[in-house]
Amino acid sequence: MSEQPAPGAPSYGRAGPSPAAPRGAGNGGPGTGTPIGGPLLEVVDLDVRYGEARALWDVSLTVRAGETVCVVGPNGAGKSTLVNAVAGIHRAAGGRIRVAGVDTTAMPGHRVCAHGVAIVPEGRRIFPRMTVLDNLLVGAYRLPARRRHRTGLDTVYRLFPRLAERTGQLAGSLSGGEQQMLAIGRALMARPSLLLLDEPSLGLAPVLVDEVYDAITRVAADGVSVLVVEQDVERALAIADRAFLLTEGRVTASGPAAELRDSAEVRRTILGL
Ligand SMILES: Nc1ncnc2c1ncn2[C@@H]1O[C@H](COP(=O)(O)OP(=O)(O)OP(=O)(O)O)[C@@H](O)[C@H]1O
Ligand SMILES: [Mg+2]
Repeated sequence: MSEQPAPGAPSYGRAGPSPAAPRGAGNGGPGTGTPIGGPLLEVVDLDVRYGEARALWDVSLTVRAGETVCVVGPNGAGKSTLVNAVAGIHRAAGGRIRVAGVDTTAMPGHRVCAHGVAIVPEGRRIFPRMTVLDNLLVGAYRLPARRRHRTGLDTVYRLFPRLAERTGQLAGSLSGGEQQMLAIGRALMARPSLLLLDEPSLGLAPVLVDEVYDAITRVAADGVSVLVVEQDVERALAIADRAFLLTEGRVTASGPAAELRDSAEVRRTILGL
């Protein structure tokens, strides 16, 4: 099987807040003008179980190249299960997962990563006793990225200048927001074509959530496809082209992000309105 080549040196734009751009009409990235291509991630009728308990029921979704897609849903809906299955961390019991046309359903995580998928896990999972630099280098273990890790580091440090200032510091001493930046930076070191983000806003003050989401927008503007799962519906819908509502392991609504934002079902299911 041929592995997808890593994208060429990305820039992820410059640090600092960028003005909110209007959503495209479905043919552009998240307000960034990124052209949307063919399907990059195809999830078809995915079933995932924990022993006898079923967590996902026939979940189908697509992320096209250059697209930002969000999955929103309440506690326990199956959001983490979905991204972990896509990343090859949790095995599917049924259905298919394809990345760039290649069936990754049965691939272990490291091969899915080599195929261009990187995950920023729920709760960040950085290595607290390692330095910022060493945490980032862990993300570059995929061979082509390792060879070019210098460029990868420059790119991540440009995206998150605060990490550059703290390169020799132990990751455990960083603030929550900085740890989230580090987790995103570590994932980007693998030069993914698809970035999976599991609740990047979790436990962060609103100003830091702004910063993290601004960075995600810049990564997407550079052509990386993004699948973000969130309980913070407003944030995720604001940057997404399309959205899915996951309720008790099933997709119960989907459509352009703007439509889901106004959907009574989303408001009732997640916001309790
Ligand atoms: N390791 C596990 N063993 C057994 N059941 C699990 C396990 N992990 C998750 N589950 C169950 O699977 C379902 C989906 O959980 P999941 O963590 O994917 O939801 P989530 O949408 O990510 O929730 P949250 O918003 O709290 O992060 C829940 O019913 C949960 O209790
Ligand atoms: Mg979760």
